[in-house]
Amino acid sequence: MKPDPAATGKPSRVFFALWPGARVAKRLHELGAEAHAECAGRRTRCETLHLTLAFIGDVAPQRLADLIAVGNCVEATPFTLRLDCLGGWRHNRIVWAGAQSCPAPLAGLVERLNGALETAGFAVERRPFAPHVTLLRKAHTQVSARGVEPIDWRVDGFALVESLQTSAGAHYRTLSEWRAGEGGDGGGDSQCAGKSG
Ligand code: 2AM
Repeated sequence: MKPDPAATGKPSRVFFALWPGARVAKRLHELGAEAHAECAGRRTRCETLHLTLAFIGDVAPQRLADLIAVGNCVEATPFTLRLDCLGGWRHNRIVWAGAQSCPAPLAGLVERLNGALETAGFAVERRPFAPHVTLLRKAHTQVSARGVEPIDWRVDGFALVESLQTSAGAHYRTLSEWRAGEGGDGGGDSQCAGKSG
């Protein structure tokens, strides 16, 4: 069993993410095989495919409760994310599945998460949000960017995840999950700073 981060006292590398169900993960993994045939590199394992909403990085165990409080404050509504293109970034040699259009509820969720993180004193990403699911790392060549058969992903929640680096690659542990449509705490217990109602 993996050690509990709070018990070890070591910092945890954490991020908020969307995690696909089995059907979408399988489709993405197949797309990863297609990309791998073209670019080589290291494929993301099916069970680790995800979309990062907000990357936080290393945090002390005593700050994890603050991140869970952030998740509790953030409202999410269910939406469908259509992954319909393949692309890559030269600077970090990843190949990803992306969306030609970012649904408003996804952009809103990211904005609210970043706002709540900032209020809680966490550093947030300043670059514009580029929704993507990494399919390959250390790609040998650049992928030819193109549209692909759309993968419709019904999103009904988000998660706070810890990334554990091992010699066999990254492993992920869900620390907490929130269902979309259930609403944030709304500041009723006054822990959701800056949120009204
Ligand atoms: P990537 O897939 O584009 O590499 C866990 O590492 C997740 O956080 C990955 O999805 C990764 O995105 C993202 N991530 C890792 N380091 C990051 C950084 N410095 N800034 C933003 N996102 C990062």
